[in-house]
Amino acid sequence: MTAYTLGSLLYEGKAKRVYATDQNDLVAVEYKDDATAFNALKKAQLAGKGELNCQISARLFELLERDGIPTHYRALQEPNWMLVRPIRIVPVEVVIRNIAFGSLCKQMPIEPGTPLDPPLLDLYYKDDAYGDPLLTDARLERLGLLTPEQRQELERLAGAVNTSLLRFFAGIGLQLVDFKIELGFSSDGALVVADEISPDTCRLWDLQVSDASDRILDKDRFRQDLGGVVEAYGEVLKRVQGACPQPRSGR
Ligand code: TMP
Ligand code: ASP
Repeated sequence: MTAYTLGSLLYEGKAKRVYATDQNDLVAVEYKDDATAFNALKKAQLAGKGELNCQISARLFELLERDGIPTHYRALQEPNWMLVRPIRIVPVEVVIRNIAFGSLCKQMPIEPGTPLDPPLLDLYYKDDAYGDPLLTDARLERLGLLTPEQRQELERLAGAVNTSLLRFFAGIGLQLVDFKIELGFSSDGALVVADEISPDTCRLWDLQVSDASDRILDKDRFRQDLGGVVEAYGEVLKRVQGACPQPRSGR
């Protein structure tokens, strides 16, 4: 990859900063150590989290690309920086649930741990000011964010991501309970998987551990004050690295 110069800060979210570069087709993403939950009501600094999520995300984006799923990812840069293609994010969070947990069980009479087959796909409107509400078909249509064809493509891609990640994580002894992805339009108008894929955005349970708390290797450790958050993310990276040792480097 050719050298680039870092430009201005384009956007700062809760867990990442996005910077322009002097190349039109490249933006740089810095993964932060900030941890938030419950729409940022709960906040902490977790040293090393940004690097762990960046290293895990880079490898998972490469896995998806190998499985034929387009992503915004270009290359890993510094330990907590990656280069990506500039995209226009669709303000919709796509959640796929393989096992009932989290908000689903607070909102519906479904027992935590119930297998969901076929997996459940939920769309949420991505806007912190409104608390990322669950979307209905009618609300999505009213907002005019996606044409019916684009929505179909978004759901097809999310399903393909689930198939790819489920198989990959099972191979490294992890149950993919559920996850959230974001997608965006690249300059040629194609929908691609964007944002990040990490223990901040996936529920991952250690298949070798039966204890309901000890098996949690994701952000629920932070949400539920279980401790050992960075250690759990480190365990996820260790296993992901075992299967995908060296992501491509932009350096
Ligand atoms: P939920 O059960 O809280 O709705 O979460 C479902 C999945 O989405 C879970 O893997 C965590 C992830 N998620 C995010 O990545 N960001 C969010 O803001 C929320 C609420 C959930
Ligand atoms: N990402 C969200 C927040 O920071 C919620 C969550 O992941 O639980 O508020």
